[in-house]
Amino acid sequence: MNPRHDPRLKAFASDNYAGVHPEILQAVVAANGGHQTSYGDDVYTEAMQEVFQKHFGERAQAWPVFNGTAANVVSLRSMTAQWEAVICAESAHINTDEGGAPEVAGGIKLLTVPTPDGKLTPELIDRQAWGFGDVHRAQPKVVSISNTTELGTVYTAAEIAAICAHAHDLGLLVHLDGSRLTNAAAALDVPMRALTTDAGVDVISFGGTKIGLMYGEAVVVLNPDAATGIDYLRKTFMQLSSKMRFVSVQFEALLSGDLWLRNARRANEMARRLAEAVGRVPGVRVARAVEANAVFAALPPDVAERLRKRFRFYDWTDGEVRWMCAFDTTEEDVDAFAAALAEEMSDTRR
Ligand SMILES: Cc1ncc(COP(=O)(O)O)c(C=O)c1O
Repeated sequence: MNPRHDPRLKAFASDNYAGVHPEILQAVVAANGGHQTSYGDDVYTEAMQEVFQKHFGERAQAWPVFNGTAANVVSLRSMTAQWEAVICAESAHINTDEGGAPEVAGGIKLLTVPTPDGKLTPELIDRQAWGFGDVHRAQPKVVSISNTTELGTVYTAAEIAAICAHAHDLGLLVHLDGSRLTNAAAALDVPMRALTTDAGVDVISFGGTKIGLMYGEAVVVLNPDAATGIDYLRKTFMQLSSKMRFVSVQFEALLSGDLWLRNARRANEMARRLAEAVGRVPGVRVARAVEANAVFAALPPDVAERLRKRFRFYDWTDGEVRWMCAFDTTEEDVDAFAAALAEEMSDTRR
């Protein structure tokens, strides 16, 4: 059957516009056929646990779910009682882009903090870490950070360690939204455990979809004392996949070798190339530091509108646009996009 779309066309809207990496697809095909026990009691899910432990340490336990929003809701609900709350950046995906799922589905109170660059710090956490023992205030219990952040920035291992030490001193737990943890680790050239297990993170929402899976994210518990009831919560939140082998085998394919790193490096490298190319176009301003696979830029709205008809992308906050690169973005894609931008800009100046 022929595809209904032109597979040569790329967008710069999100890394989840990309398809499935061929090595992942092959792994799914290899896991097909015959019968396996459903709901996670299968050999692929067992093997997946080992690869997560290889990356995040022996205590790590992974719980595949269907998407990133669910990974966040299940993680945060497993870390909090009903009267407890989650401190996060105002720009955090859980606050801005999940349709209120943490509040509506999870019943989780978010305590938000404005940040200049999407990153929390111990000082910024303190703006919401107060009122302990006051029955009138939702009790702060978890600090949730994202790496990479929603503004394309990357927390270093030292920054995360400082957050974890501060949070733990206050009796708080740390959750990391690692929808793009692979990109963060590749950007810093460190193992993923340096940004998580070794820094003191308690629970991760680990991203697979944006780095080459068809679908699938995982709640990864690093500190077993930090989370309770995930077995039950995953089902309650409708995230227990009956044919789990097909989610688990994708993680195995992503993480058993260096596929995650190759994919993340490419996406990051293409974002650097894109930033350089668009930065050379007169009138276009790269608005934020390009630390991983996102480029934020400011350009005239009419140009953005015309360019969007040729390559999809989203408007972001503060009148900026966001351009994302994926594991399958090529040099040619980037150059074609930059050339189209230059063309549309010169139209405006005429
Ligand atoms: C930082 C971050 N967290 C979580 C998610 C949620 O993922 P999903 O769209 O799979 O629910 C996204 C998706 O864009 C994201 O960027």
